[in-house]
Amino acid sequence: MFNGGSRLLEDPEDVLRFNDKIFPYLPFVWFHTQIDSNPGAFAFILRHHRRAWRMTENRTQHHQRAYGHRQRLEVEDPSTEHMFLAKDKTLQDLIYDLSTSGSGSGLPLFVQRTVARTIVLQEIIGKGRFGEVWRGKWRGGDVAVKIFSSREERSWFREAEIYQTIMLRHENILGFIAADNKDNGTWTQLWLVSDYHENGSLFDYLNRYSVTIEGMIKLALTAASGLAHLHMEILGTQGKPGIAHRDLKSKNILVKKNCTCAIADLGLAVRHESVSDTIDIAPNQRVGTKRYMAPEVLEESINMRHFDSFKCADIYALGLVYWEIARRCNAGGIHEEYQLPYYDLVPSDPSIEEMRKVVCDQRLRPNIPNWWQSYEALRVMGKIMRECWYANGAARLTALRIKKTLSQLSVDEDMKI
Ligand SMILES: Nc1ncnc2c1ncn2[C@@H]1O[C@H](COP(=O)(O)OP(=O)(O)O)[C@@H](O)[C@H]1O
Ligand SMILES: [Mg+2]
Repeated sequence: MFNGGSRLLEDPEDVLRFNDKIFPYLPFVWFHTQIDSNPGAFAFILRHHRRAWRMTENRTQHHQRAYGHRQRLEVEDPSTEHMFLAKDKTLQDLIYDLSTSGSGSGLPLFVQRTVARTIVLQEIIGKGRFGEVWRGKWRGGDVAVKIFSSREERSWFREAEIYQTIMLRHENILGFIAADNKDNGTWTQLWLVSDYHENGSLFDYLNRYSVTIEGMIKLALTAASGLAHLHMEILGTQGKPGIAHRDLKSKNILVKKNCTCAIADLGLAVRHESVSDTIDIAPNQRVGTKRYMAPEVLEESINMRHFDSFKCADIYALGLVYWEIARRCNAGGIHEEYQLPYYDLVPSDPSIEEMRKVVCDQRLRPNIPNWWQSYEALRVMGKIMRECWYANGAARLTALRIKKTLSQLSVDEDMKI
């Protein structure tokens, strides 16, 4: 069933995209275009102009200070490639190398390119806004390949850039493997390669299965852990910036084989530059999926100068995802059918105006059934949801607080996690 053509495809439920400045991506673009146009010449440039590179690096120190957390492009000698890509290396080995190499921001770009170009695509597994997601094979293992159309080049840059944020890797965030752009003469193929999860999205999963109380807590706790890691700023040279997702929903969370969550689709994320207390791109007022937009996003009152506002909007969406999960929880033989949040209050593909009326004017939220009070786990989940849905973003729980509450719940329920 998972591998068949019947996977529920992502409907385009209108996601508003932003118009970013291209400036921050230039080093990334430049690097990719250089190796594209003439790989041999590029190797030559690398060997003979390392000093020039270092000087350029000095000149860009100011930029680096301002963008301290941004990934430093790894201009490594291609001859190091054999260390990563010896014939017997599997994907697991590569990921292990990556976690122990200490670079903290992913595989060297040469290696990423070589891996991407030796993947054999197998079948289409999802359709999103930008093109298609495929299952592919690399050295016997499965990988997922998100293929962007040439028109979506900026979205490809942005998602690749976010995934290569230093120290982003976490068991509850989709594992990034490689980015590649390949010009075939007519158009540019833009690929993002990541771990493959055969259960697909949480949306697909909840449509197919109900979950036990333990299953519900595990999904909710691991989603909170992923989001807490994304949101958290870690200081120091091996630190990471705070990141807000801005399009959190059940279709953008994947379910791993062990029934834990991995947060995916980071294409709309924003990073906090804490030194200058600024956001790394010019954020638009309203991005994301309308159904999951927080009240302050719907009515455009969100304070975009304050990075925490974006985190609070993510928490509102996480509460909606929890409601989707909890409805499918099988306690005492009862569970409900799968539904999207606000299914009973707005039409499919709702407009901003339709959402605003319900969420802001009428201040309605998804229904929390009374019978949830009879089960401790569902009672706690209901309470968390209410505290994710306050109209005032600053009053909402943090991802870390939710993670702690659910960890405690898992102990109380005698779960082994
Ligand atoms: N790594 C993966 N493993 C399995 N399925 C995936 C993977 N990545 C994406 N998908 C499927 O493809 C869909 C679209 O992927 P997503 O990254 O959200 O793209 P878009 O930006 O186009 O929305 C997801 O909802 C999911 O069903
Ligand atoms: Mg998506």
